[in-house]
Amino acid sequence: MAKDWFEWHELYQTEDVLQQRLEIVRKYISDSLDAASEGTIQVVSACSGDGRDLLGVLATHPRVKDVRARLVELNPQLVERGREAIAQLGLTEQIEFINGDATLTSSFAGAVPADVVITCGIFGNLPDEEVLQQLIRNLPYFTKKGGFVLWTRGHRDGVNYSERVRQIFQESQFTEVDFQLTATGNMGIGRHRFEGQTLSEPIDEQFFVFTGNPEKAGLLVSPS
Ligand SMILES: C[S@@+](CC[C@H](N)C(=O)[O-])C[C@H]1O[C@@H](n2cnc3c(N)ncnc32)[C@H](O)[C@@H]1O
Repeated sequence: MAKDWFEWHELYQTEDVLQQRLEIVRKYISDSLDAASEGTIQVVSACSGDGRDLLGVLATHPRVKDVRARLVELNPQLVERGREAIAQLGLTEQIEFINGDATLTSSFAGAVPADVVITCGIFGNLPDEEVLQQLIRNLPYFTKKGGFVLWTRGHRDGVNYSERVRQIFQESQFTEVDFQLTATGNMGIGRHRFEGQTLSEPIDEQFFVFTGNPEKAGLLVSPS
């Protein structure tokens, strides 16, 4: 399982949908950093892969020195690659890359609430809508009032799964700031601003349940 997700990342070399998604996610991260007020900008990323979305932005963003981030990823090879990238950028004092379980809210204690919460590559790997609701109802623990949540959702068999995600955010004290489909047409990327009150404790210990299997996923059919 762990090795498979490492291999899955190789698809970034060849798959238009993933390359386009990454470009849009980076734009949304960059825009979120641009919008942050003066001082520290707190970022968290769940199931962060090798962190290429956030780290790619930090390589050139003018607010880089203000960013403090925690990335949580289960696959040790991806964490190692991410840590190497952090070291190359000279950001080891400000970016933590944790080899841990992002499905537990406790993995983020001390790093939330954040100004930017990255949940990319997760929604297509949840078992059902109930778990998506669970994840979103816990976001007030993760997100500062006015902070941003970034997400992605692949479409399959002609089903536009992003529409339901947008609807749930809208019903959950979030305002849509951005939404875009990749040019391939089968991947939605969203950015929502949290308008509610931040919670000091999570509602659930379990943030979400991740059921994705990269072998079964077959990217072209189900791009996570
Ligand atoms: C579809 S990939 C997305 C990676 C990255 N966010 C991106 O968009 O490129 C899903 C990632 O979730 C990781 N993952 C799966 N279960 C996890 C868990 N319980 N805790 C942390 N990471 C997990 C996998 O190892 C994989 O890197």
